[in-house]
Amino acid sequence: MSSPDGPRPPAGAQAPATPSASGGPARPARTAVVIPAAGRGVRLGPGAPKALRTLSGTPMLIHAVRAMAASRAVSLVVVVAPPDGAHEVKNLLDTHALPERTDYVVVPGGMTRQESVRLGLGALPEDVTTVLVHDAARPLVPVETVDAVIEAVRGGAPAVVPAVPLADTVKEVEPSAVPGDPEPVLATPVRARLRAVQTPQGFDRDTLMRAHATVTLDGEGATDDAGMVERLGEPVVVVPGHEEAFKVTRPLDLVLAEAVLARRRANDGF
Ligand code: CTP
Ligand code: MG
Repeated sequence: MSSPDGPRPPAGAQAPATPSASGGPARPARTAVVIPAAGRGVRLGPGAPKALRTLSGTPMLIHAVRAMAASRAVSLVVVVAPPDGAHEVKNLLDTHALPERTDYVVVPGGMTRQESVRLGLGALPEDVTTVLVHDAARPLVPVETVDAVIEAVRGGAPAVVPAVPLADTVKEVEPSAVPGDPEPVLATPVRARLRAVQTPQGFDRDTLMRAHATVTLDGEGATDDAGMVERLGEPVVVVPGHEEAFKVTRPLDLVLAEAVLARRRANDGF
């Protein structure tokens, strides 16, 4: 361990040990990632479930899993699959290589993202103390962002969110009942104080478990796990995110994702 003032060990370094419940020898604390991948991808248009659409020939989900497994700190990935596609997703993971150090399990998801994350959390082994939640729909997040989130959680923050400043000014409106009708503007928040949040979001395991056990939201449920922790009254901090951690949501995002992959291939010298 480094001194409090010295440089932090890299996120891949051995985590602090937690005493085992049985009173036996302490085991190292583990970091796991839950990847909700059970959505249909309605905004992307007709086709396979979004996580199974390919980017440069490889399913988006595999890109996302590899992005998480690229962090040496991550020892387990829990993939939350479309309810009717768990078998297919398991096969996919079996046939795409991951680093030796990374285990994976697949569980079927639910009707909302919040429910899918909760089902994924149910599959975590006891020795996991740091949990990341990462959208399968953010397949290109760089490992530096993953490690920065993990380090902030290990440094003592119960909830950590990567985020970027906004390019657009944002208006709060009174949504119209009829799509396309003019909408009255209610407020214009100061842009410099706003951040667009991304994933992976990182949590102290107990804090996230408590949020998912107690916070209920109507309709679509929570689209953001950190928001649920905020409702507990626990502090949430933001660390710098990355422009390549964007969410593939609409068709144009597929074009951008392919362009990012092409640029990476060019930079790798292929
Ligand atoms: N997700 C999930 N279970 C759901 C809904 C969403 O696991 N019932 C996941 C998606 O697979 C995605 C992440 O949550 O990785 C973020 O959701 P979003 O980008 O909204 O994806 P979809 O819900 O699939 O897309 P859309 O809202 O356009 O249908
Ligand atoms: Mg959705």
